[in-house]
Amino acid sequence: MDLLDRLSLDVPVGQAGMGGGLAGPQLAAAVAAAGGLGTLGLLPARELRDSIAEVRARAPGRAVAVNLLTPFLRRSQISVCIRERIDVAVVAFGGDRDLVEKLRAAGIFVFVMVGTAEQTRRAVSWRADGLIAQGCEAGGHLCGTTEALSFLPQALALADGRPVLLAGGIATADDTRAALATGASGAIAGTRFLLTHESQAHPEYQRRVLAADSTLRTTLFGLGWPAPHRVIPNAATRRWCDADGTAKMAPRIINARSAVLARLPGAASVARIQTPRLPLYSPVAPTVGMPATAVDRAACYAGQTALRMSSVTSAAEALRDLSPEGQ
Ligand SMILES: Cc1cc2nc3c(=O)[nH]c(=O)nc-3n(C[C@H](O)[C@H](O)[C@H](O)COP(=O)(O)O)c2cc1C
Repeated sequence: MDLLDRLSLDVPVGQAGMGGGLAGPQLAAAVAAAGGLGTLGLLPARELRDSIAEVRARAPGRAVAVNLLTPFLRRSQISVCIRERIDVAVVAFGGDRDLVEKLRAAGIFVFVMVGTAEQTRRAVSWRADGLIAQGCEAGGHLCGTTEALSFLPQALALADGRPVLLAGGIATADDTRAALATGASGAIAGTRFLLTHESQAHPEYQRRVLAADSTLRTTLFGLGWPAPHRVIPNAATRRWCDADGTAKMAPRIINARSAVLARLPGAASVARIQTPRLPLYSPVAPTVGMPATAVDRAACYAGQTALRMSSVTSAAEALRDLSPEGQ
């Protein structure tokens, strides 16, 4: 299969769909218009519908992709994707055969994000069209513990000929070329696109990511979704994590018992009452419109590539920087 043709791409590079409003229509459309795979992060159903329309209007003739963050996915959001005939769905952090079948039956190209051999076998048994192999150096939530380029050969061996995109550690054209040379059909970047003018990340969050000299794998921001995630350190992690990122006992207990919260409407509003003093930390990241102080009490997701990045650019420039033909 020629993936570039199938997904109407000029460049084998995609932007990760980052939830909580971080990757909205401005970012997805800018990436798509520049020839990459622009992906909307999961949004409430009505906003998702409008955002899909906006990407179509701003990037005519390009694929519209939506990230389906399954711990927070509702039936209404799946219906919007099907009704609006999106081109690509990325099923992440869960999913099942029914979901994949339903999307495929609607003509949607379905990627499943995987981080272990077991997850890969499962995604293949669901008959996913493609896989995204995520490495543990990635920003945001993590589905495995192996570095991207080490995991990729394993994912390829199990993929049964399906295209595999590599996520994690993609900051430059050389990184993309290394992914392609190892057998990936393309590369996906999150942190690089977080640091663009079109992302909805709070400017102070972007500034902190650029200034960071380390990242942490933690479970601290796990209210409602106690899965590991990679962030840069802030006041909350300094207060509630050990030096290696392990969350202390109090937040761990609270998070382990809070899974039901993810499904409650308004769970995101917990972010507004977060303080570095109280170990109640939801997965919501600081976006434009929040006070700058949110960066010290919310999850500032970023991958290890943060340590190699030096500026906030336009999304088109970021895509050019990652293009295997460039630099
Ligand atoms: C700020 C941020 C938010 C993210 N949100 C999501 C999300 O909502 N859904 C998802 O599947 N992956 C999410 N991810 C993970 C990405 O899919 C991808 O695996 C990761 O960004 C790749 O690593 P990189 O950030 O080093 O490029 C997020 C990553 C970041 C940095």
